[in-house]
Amino acid sequence: MRYFYLGFILTVAAVVGLLGFRGSLSRKPPLEIFPDMVRQPKLRPQSPSDFYQDGMSSRAFPLGTIARTKPYTIAGQVVKVNGKSVYPYENNPLTTARVPGTTNFIELSPVPVTAKLVDRGQDRFNIYCLPCHGPVGNGQGVTSKFGVGGIADLHSRRIVEMTDGQIFWTITDGSPAKLMGPYGPMIPVEDRWAIVSYVRALQRSQLATMNDVPQSEQAALKK
Ligand code: HEC
Repeated sequence: MRYFYLGFILTVAAVVGLLGFRGSLSRKPPLEIFPDMVRQPKLRPQSPSDFYQDGMSSRAFPLGTIARTKPYTIAGQVVKVNGKSVYPYENNPLTTARVPGTTNFIELSPVPVTAKLVDRGQDRFNIYCLPCHGPVGNGQGVTSKFGVGGIADLHSRRIVEMTDGQIFWTITDGSPAKLMGPYGPMIPVEDRWAIVSYVRALQRSQLATMNDVPQSEQAALKK
C-alpha cells in the first residue's frame, strides 16, 4: 500500500507538472515530444528550391492528368447527359455505358450523333480498328492476312443487334474472351462514342435496301 501511495503521488505530481502549466507563458523553448512531425525536411508549395533544376518546389502535373473540375467535351463542346455536364470521377452512363444502378448496357449512345461526330469516329476507327476489322468492318483487315484469326465481322447479326453500350464497352475493355484487347487506355471516352457512331454508320451502309435509294436513282440501279 505504501508503494501505491508513493506511485499515486508521483503520478499526480508528473501530470500536474506536465499539463498544469500549459497555457502559461515561458521564454524557454517548448517541449516537443515528436519533433519530426513538426519539423520535416519538406518543401512548401510555391517556394524556391535548389533541389530541382528549374528552381521551383512545385512540380508540373504528370502527362495525362485529368482535372476533376473539367467536364467531358466533344469537339470543344461540353457533353450534356440529361441536360447536365459529366465529370471524369462520376459514375455516369457516358463512362460506364450502363444504366445507372444496374449492370445492363444502355441501348443508345448518350452523345448526340452529328456528322462531325461520325467523321471523328471514322478517323479514329481507321487508326485503331481498321487494321483488324478492315475498312468496312467485315473482319478482313490486313492483320487477317498475317494470321490473326477469328476477327469479328461487325456486320454479323449478333453485333448489329448489340446495344451501343455494349460496343462502347467492347472498345473499352476488349471482347469478353479477350481475343480483342482493351482500347480504353488509348482511346478517350469521347472518341469511343464517336467510333460507336461510325460503326453504326458502317452497319447501316451494309443493311441498306432499295427503299433507301432515292427514287430518281432506283431505275438506274435496277438495270
Ligand atoms: C488486334 C486486332 C483488333 C483490333 C485492333 C480491334 N479488334 Fe475488335 N475484334 C478483334 C477480334 C479478334 C474479335 C473477336 C473477339 C472474340 O470473339 O472474342 C473482335 C471483336 C469485336 C467486336 C465483337 C465483340 C463481341 O462481344 O463478340 C466488336 C464490337 C469489335 N471487335 C469492335 C472493335 C472496334 C470498334 C475496334 C476499334 C476501336 C476494334 N474492334 C479493334 C480484333 C480486333
